[in-house]
Amino acid sequence: MNSIINDIEIIKSETTKINEVDFDNLAFGSVFSDHMLECNFKDGKWQAPKVIPYQAITLDPSAKIFHYGQSVFEGMKAYKDANEDVWLFRPLENFKRLNISSKRLAIPEVPENYFMDGLKTLLEVDRDWIPKNEGSSLYIRPFVFASGNGFHASPANAYKFIICTAPSGAYFSGKVKVLIEQTYSRSANGGVGYAKAGGNYAGQFYPTQLAVEKGYQQVIWTDDTTHEYIEEAGAMNIFVRINDTLITGPTSDRILDGITRKSIIELAKSEGIEVEVRKLSVHEVVEAAKNGSLKEMFGAGTAAVISPISGFGYKDEDFDIPELDETFAGFLKKRITDIQTNKVEDPFGWRYKL
Ligand code: PLP
Ligand code: COI
Repeated sequence: MNSIINDIEIIKSETTKINEVDFDNLAFGSVFSDHMLECNFKDGKWQAPKVIPYQAITLDPSAKIFHYGQSVFEGMKAYKDANEDVWLFRPLENFKRLNISSKRLAIPEVPENYFMDGLKTLLEVDRDWIPKNEGSSLYIRPFVFASGNGFHASPANAYKFIICTAPSGAYFSGKVKVLIEQTYSRSANGGVGYAKAGGNYAGQFYPTQLAVEKGYQQVIWTDDTTHEYIEEAGAMNIFVRINDTLITGPTSDRILDGITRKSIIELAKSEGIEVEVRKLSVHEVVEAAKNGSLKEMFGAGTAAVISPISGFGYKDEDFDIPELDETFAGFLKKRITDIQTNKVEDPFGWRYKL
């Protein structure tokens, strides 16, 4: 039955796939909920979004997304608490970042009410898809791409803004071993590294494949000029603990300004952990690994949450990070997921009730 919520038209799917989903064994982002939000940009403006059944998209072969890669996306999660209330985490930050990314790729910015009301309506419609199990959530993927046609290498005149969702478990299974990259670069000064542009990920796949062949799961990107400073990983920002100080690099136009990263910085400081946001050289990390002061390394991101790193490779040498009983990673992960899932007070005002 069709209806309207928050001024958004809803065309309901006549069937559901929910009974085919094993909510106790969810992989990351591989089964998709029954509905999606679709919003089209044409004639110079965004048209009203609609919630429609999850479905394939038909595009002309000349659509500019295929040729010139005008495409940006976001990653968010919805959580269900013990009372079946649904929570988002800092959703306006994702909204703002989507438009920061869009601007850089000459994609028209999505209006806030279309993003927020569209998201809330979609989640209401697919509320049953939001997992309750510990460690699971509904991963939300908003994205915008050039659907307009033509081979002229210039911005398209038509775009689609879509949100689809996937009940998901952990992004990584187990600990992560990383390779500190010395040849390839993810981004450069003045480039698009700070944008969540699809092409940033495509550019990482080949160097990451080479790292996987050598037994690592992720690459740690270093600055493109000297490869001497640690920037971020493929889908996470990076934190290092040397003695009892937590260190992460500053954001720049080469690095994604992660929402998990900035939340961790604030959370750790509020818990009395000493945090330094400063350039972190590979040399310093290697020396710390050699002299035993490197206590932890972990990645932080929406999909990855906080993922401990068990060791790293650098210039044909491998360094293990010995396991500790009590880690900043474990402590901060529990604090942040407890806030996200409404298990504890949220003194920061980050939680957002659907
Ligand atoms: N860095 C990159 C390249 C990412 O893809 C992500 C994931 O979104 C992050 C960092 C972490 O950002 P956030 O915490 O906002 O998810
Ligand atoms: C996220 O953490 O939400 C991301 O977008 C990372 C993604 C590449 C899986």
